[in-house]
Amino acid sequence: MVVAATPSGVIGCDGRMPWHLGSDLVRFKSITMGGTLVMGRKTFDSIGRPLPGRQTIVLSRDAAWHHPGVVVVNSSETAIEAAERLGKPAFVVGGAEIYQLMLPYVSEIWSTLVWSAAVGDTQVPTMTADFHLIQACRLPQTDRDSVPTELQRWVRKNSVPKAGVPIEL
Ligand SMILES: NC(=O)c1ccc[n+]([C@@H]2O[C@H](COP(=O)([O-])OP(=O)(O)OC[C@H]3O[C@@H](n4cnc5c(N)ncnc54)[C@H](OP(=O)(O)O)[C@@H]3O)[C@@H](O)[C@H]2O)c1
Repeated sequence: MVVAATPSGVIGCDGRMPWHLGSDLVRFKSITMGGTLVMGRKTFDSIGRPLPGRQTIVLSRDAAWHHPGVVVVNSSETAIEAAERLGKPAFVVGGAEIYQLMLPYVSEIWSTLVWSAAVGDTQVPTMTADFHLIQACRLPQTDRDSVPTELQRWVRKNSVPKAGVPIEL
């Protein structure tokens, strides 16, 4: 799972993220490149296209919804089956409905803590209760970022971190 949230759990406002974090977009790309993104239909609509270098699975209950280059599924079970068929590391990338739905199946969380007081209309509760913090790094605000951030990597208790791509923090 990959998520960016404020300390109060805000992740979105009016269908987008209420901050600009160029550095975090670069980290998101490094973490997910070559893998499969699992997202809700509303998050896909806010992005508007499949992201390059990654497969895209979109959850929707609308049997008529489709988009070129996207695998559409209608449940957590079919999302997992589709991700397994694609055979690449899979990342749950939101939004709030899909984080909640898929959390039981997630082994790692890459969480960007966004030091912003932004008010939003989409929030997530604390999702890390069953996870250990194994890596954390405070990141100063750069000229590409509207606020400072902290990148955290959480691994489900009683599991070991996956050997993954090295991420430049
Ligand atoms: N900060 C971050 O890291 C981050 C990441 C991603 C998104 N966001 C933000 O989050 C907001 C969107 O989040 P959201 O919670 O409103 O929407 P969402 O989770 O992106 O998508 C919700 C949609 O997913 C489908 N869905 C939900 N549960 C399902 C199930 N059990 N089976 C099949 N389909 C299911 C439905 O699509 P249909 O209506 O088509 O049936 C539902 O309307 C935006 O503001 C976005 O910018 C933030």
